[in-house]
Amino acid sequence: MNLILLGAPGAGKGTQGKGLSDKYRIPQISTGDILRANVRNKTALGLKAKEFMDKGVLVPDDIVVGMVSDRIKEDDCANGFILDGFPRNLKQAEVLEETLSMTGKRIDHVIGIDVERKELVRRLSGRRVCRKCGASYHVIFSPPMNIGMCDKCGSEIYQRDDDSEETIEARLKVYEQETFPLIEYYTRKGLYAAVEGIGTVDRITNSIVGAIEKGRSNT
Ligand code: AP5
Ligand code: MG
Repeated sequence: MNLILLGAPGAGKGTQGKGLSDKYRIPQISTGDILRANVRNKTALGLKAKEFMDKGVLVPDDIVVGMVSDRIKEDDCANGFILDGFPRNLKQAEVLEETLSMTGKRIDHVIGIDVERKELVRRLSGRRVCRKCGASYHVIFSPPMNIGMCDKCGSEIYQRDDDSEETIEARLKVYEQETFPLIEYYTRKGLYAAVEGIGTVDRITNSIVGAIEKGRSNT
């Protein structure tokens, strides 16, 4: 199963992607995570990407598309993958389709996670992330047991550079202008289903699984 998780910054793509990856035993591919790893390791790609990420705008397509095309050809994607944060504009969606069709593959489901803007801002402005294992916390809604330390692996938790108030606004604007049109694109292809992104993480996961099952029975 090749799945795309669509949703605004803070909608829960990363959170849901983890659970779905465990459930379906297919890798979660987060372009944001891959880019941040490159920034951390100061690779040439990371140095280029950082200036865009810090502004909250999209990293140029040529950088991201090549990265994803290489990743989905790896052996662990043979039975499927979950894309989190890709595609993010029509160009990326078209190139993805071409890349997949070259190997006789296609996207099976696109699930949009709906969350209202006010809640997105609340989630992003309080988010903290573990530097090592990527576990996500929120200073008010899900704080770690020990301040600054990950419950799961004990490593340091930090605030993403792009989770500042100003950059959150820029990211939400970019989402509305560039990524939102993908809903119509995938709806026309009969692949899109939306789920309500407010509620417990488990409940939302169940809604996504339900939408996938429903999509399967319709094909
Ligand atoms: P990326 O890392 O993809 O960031 P994003 O799209 O802005 O999304 P987030 O990771 O912020 O949110 P999420 O939906 O994963 O939510 P999460 O699960 O963490 O991209 C970063 C940057 O990289 C981009 O701005 C761009 O520059 C670049 N980039 C990436 N991909 C690109 C591409 N394809 N092309 C070009 N550039 C690209 O949850 C958020 C918070 O809410 C957490 O604190 C979490 O604990 C909490 N939460 C989750 N679920 C719930 C719930 N049900 N109830 C309460 N709280 C919840
Ligand atoms: Mg994410």
